[in-house]
Amino acid sequence: MEGSREPIGVIGTGYVGLVTAAGFAELGSYVYCVDIDANKIARLKGGEIPIYEPGLEDMVARNRERLHFSTTLEEALEHARLLFVAVGTPPTYSGDADLSSVYAVVDAMPPSDRHALVMKSTVPVGTGRSIRRAFEARGKAGFRYVSCPEFLKEGSAVGDFLNPDRVVVGDEGDWAGDAVVDLYAPLDAPLVRTDIPSAEMVKLASNAFLATKISFINEIANVCEETGSNVLEVARGMGLDDRIGPKFLQAGIGFGGSCFPKDVSALKQLAGNSGYHFQLLNAVIEVNELQKRRVISKLQKHLGTLVGKEIALLGLAFKPETDDMREASSLVLSARLLADGASVRAYDPVSEEEARTLMPGVGFADAALEVVEGADAVVLVTEWKEFKQLDWGAVAQRMAGDLVVDGRNSLDSVAVRAAGLSYEGIGTR
Ligand SMILES: NC(=O)c1ccc[n+]([C@@H]2O[C@H](COP(=O)([O-])OP(=O)(O)OC[C@H]3O[C@@H](n4cnc5c(N)ncnc54)[C@H](O)[C@@H]3O)[C@@H](O)[C@H]2O)c1
Repeated sequence: MEGSREPIGVIGTGYVGLVTAAGFAELGSYVYCVDIDANKIARLKGGEIPIYEPGLEDMVARNRERLHFSTTLEEALEHARLLFVAVGTPPTYSGDADLSSVYAVVDAMPPSDRHALVMKSTVPVGTGRSIRRAFEARGKAGFRYVSCPEFLKEGSAVGDFLNPDRVVVGDEGDWAGDAVVDLYAPLDAPLVRTDIPSAEMVKLASNAFLATKISFINEIANVCEETGSNVLEVARGMGLDDRIGPKFLQAGIGFGGSCFPKDVSALKQLAGNSGYHFQLLNAVIEVNELQKRRVISKLQKHLGTLVGKEIALLGLAFKPETDDMREASSLVLSARLLADGASVRAYDPVSEEEARTLMPGVGFADAALEVVEGADAVVLVTEWKEFKQLDWGAVAQRMAGDLVVDGRNSLDSVAVRAAGLSYEGIGTR
C-alpha cells in the first residue's frame, strides 16, 4: 500500500540512484527502481548491495518494503509521476559528456501528460532544453522536465542525502518542479529554485571550483617544496580565513573519481563548444595530471632508477570509504611505475576486485603488512583510516628499503620517522 508521500521512479541504480532511492524510501516514498543491468537488479532483489557505501545497506534493509527493483519501466511509469534519472554520463574521447544513456531513457519514455523526468545525472548546460525539444519532436510535448543536480559525495552519500547543503531545482514553474520541491521539503535544506540551464550550471561550476581549489593547493605544495615552507601549516593558516575555509585544501597526488575529472573536462568542452576558451580549467586539469606523476620523481630522488625496485601501494580507490576506482590516481601511478620497470604490489581494503581488472601487471596483497613485505618503498595512495593506524615498527621490519611516500599527507610523519623510516610528504617537511 502506498503512503501519503509521493511515489517515485529512479532510473539507474548506481551510486547516485541507489542512494536517492533508499533516501526517498526512508522519507516515506515507495520507490520503483529500474536498471538495465540485470545482474545488479537480481542482486538488489536478493538484498545485496552492489557497491560499497557506508550506511547504505542498512538504509536499504530498513526500507525494503518500499523499494522495488526491476529491469523494465512499466511499474515505475504506472506508480510514479516523477522519474529520477541517475544513469552514467562518462566522458567521451573529446572530453564532452556521453549522453547516450540519458537519451536511451528519454527515448524509452511514452507520450504522457502526467510524467516528468527529474535529471540527477550531471549533464552539460543545455541538455534540459535539448530533451524538451526531443520530447516535442517525438509527440511527447506533455512530458515535463526538471533539473535536480546531485551533490552527494561517495563515502558519505547517505548522510549527504539526508542533510544536504542545498537542494537545487531547475524547472519551468510547473507541477513537476513543485512536486520535486515537496519531496525534498522534509530535509529542510536551503532551496535554490531556478531555471533549468542555471541549475545545470550550478553542478558543473561547483565541481570545477572544488577541483580548482585542489589544484591550487597542490601547486602551493609544490612551491613549498622549493621554498622550504610546509603546506600543512600554510593550508591551516589559509583555511582559518572564512572567505577561504579549510575544506579541499589538502595537498596530495591529485583528484580522481567519477565526477571531478569528467565534470571539469565537460565544462571546459562546453565552454569551448560555445566559443569561450576557459583558460583556468586547462591549468586545473594539467596540474592534476602532473601531480599524479610527482610521486615518481620523489621515488627516483631516493631510489635512483626504478628498474627492478619493489613498490608497495597502500590504497587504490580514488578516495577512502568507497570502492570506486574511476579515474583513481592509483591507475596512472601504477602504470607509470610499471613502465619505469618497477615491480608494483597493492592493497586496498575494498576495491581490489575492481582494481584487478584495471591494473594488469600489478600484484595484490590481502593486508597492509603483507603488501609492504620486501618493498623498497611504500606509497600511501588512498588515506584509509587503517593506514593512519599502521604499526610503523612492524612495517620497517618487513620492508627491504626505508622510504615512505605519503601521497595524501595523512600519515603521522613523527611515528614513521621514529620507526627508522624516511618520510616524504607532498609539500611538507
Ligand atoms: N558518483 C557520484 O559521486 C556522483 C555525485 C553526483 C552526481 N553524479 C552523477 O550522477 C550520474 C550517475 O553517477 P553514478 O556514479 O551513480 O553512476 P553509476 O555508473 O554508478 O550508475 C549508473 C547506473 O545507470 C544504469 N543505466 C545505464 N543506462 C541505463 C538505462 N538506459 N536505463 C536504466 N539504467 C541505466 C547503469 O547500469 C548503472 O547501474 C552521473 O551523471 C554522475 O556524474 C555522481
